[in-house]
Amino acid sequence: MSKLWQKNIDSAPCVERYTVGADRKMDLYLARADVLGSLAHTRMLASVGLMSQDDLELVQRGLKEIYRRIESGDFEIAEGVEDVHSQIEFMLTETVGEAGKKIHSGRSRNDQVLVDLKLFLRERVRQTVLSVERLFNKLQELSRQHRDVLMPGYTHLQIAMPSSFGLWFGAYAESLADDLEMLLAAYRVCDKNPLGSAAGYGSSFPLDRTMTTRLLGFETLNYNVVYAQMGRGKCERIVAQAMSSVAATLSRLAFDNCLFLSQNFGFISYPADLTTGSSIMPHKKNPDVWEIMRGKCNLLQALPGQIVSLTTNLPLGYNRDLQLLKEVLFPAMESLTESIDMALFMLSHIEVRRGITDNPMYDYMFSVEVVNNEVLSGVPFREAYRKVGLDIEAGKFSPSRTLHHTHEGSIGNLCTDEITARFNEVLARFDFDRAVKAEAELVR
Ligand code: ARG
Repeated sequence: MSKLWQKNIDSAPCVERYTVGADRKMDLYLARADVLGSLAHTRMLASVGLMSQDDLELVQRGLKEIYRRIESGDFEIAEGVEDVHSQIEFMLTETVGEAGKKIHSGRSRNDQVLVDLKLFLRERVRQTVLSVERLFNKLQELSRQHRDVLMPGYTHLQIAMPSSFGLWFGAYAESLADDLEMLLAAYRVCDKNPLGSAAGYGSSFPLDRTMTTRLLGFETLNYNVVYAQMGRGKCERIVAQAMSSVAATLSRLAFDNCLFLSQNFGFISYPADLTTGSSIMPHKKNPDVWEIMRGKCNLLQALPGQIVSLTTNLPLGYNRDLQLLKEVLFPAMESLTESIDMALFMLSHIEVRRGITDNPMYDYMFSVEVVNNEVLSGVPFREAYRKVGLDIEAGKFSPSRTLHHTHEGSIGNLCTDEITARFNEVLARFDFDRAVKAEAELVR
């Protein structure tokens, strides 16, 4: 088997199989980023005199060709090739000859996989943010549209006080605005260049790390080479924490949907083709989409814990355990964006029932309103509370259905614009442009 590091002795096949594991599959996620890293690294090598102009031209052309193959889906990591870094270097050497063997100067696969991860995670966080933004906008649109449609509010799952669909949708929008703060923190941690840390202790070549930082569109670098290597696992954990925050929002939204769709509530409905049937009960319209979403998002909330378990008490420097982070994180990232997009799809078809609270079963929901009316006419709160309580017990209570909620964030004053402004303020702090432009320039 061909290895970048092969000298004389092959590893036993079972050792090879066990250590490579799922890495060949996971590394496909990193292929695009790996080429970007090499495009920047080789330009830097040439600028500090470690690669000739002729070699640079050859490897740049070869790498861009590989990039196009990756983009068009025509790329795989061959049986017997250890990882994406080896595959790309072998392919390059095949097409451009000796020059291909020069791209690894001043670099180790340790900082290569680090920079790949940063680029990959940075892009995936960007995709997640775009999905979150679409979902946020949909929730706000629904909140506005149904601002006057009342629904019961619950505490202890007991009927409590009047709520509205405007308030319900708006709550999830505002929750996403806070999740976006977490994604911003994660994006900024991803947006730092570890390239040049080599095996974790730098290089005696005069590498220009500021140059690769600029070429790759990173905001800044992970300066300390030991810390750059310590970032493996830490960056993943922070991304996972942000993802888990979004997942928690989605999971609750999913549960509400299951509950409100139940016939005993019947607050919302979906077109039949968005629900699923039962093999035995002909009447069923089950909320399977929301149940799968609840399950997936609950699993996603375990992600930071898994990463912590994998990285706790590792000795300083690179350890092969770190490779397993990819298997935990990469499929989870797909699962999250898939769920966000699915929530958007479902909500685009939600039907909201009007007049729910006219049903006398919800009369007591207005008890606080009656108490408050008494208070406004001069009765002390505690007395009014007691009087209404006794009326309820004596079966003499009559609800007042005119509501007077005016304060910020209440059913009568949703502050939709204020919440959108908060969301947009955080959104504006992601510097996606720098990354997108730099990557486009590298492959041009
Ligand atoms: N597949 C490895 C990983 O993901 C590549 C990094 C360097 N490998 C090594 N044996 N030093 O961690």
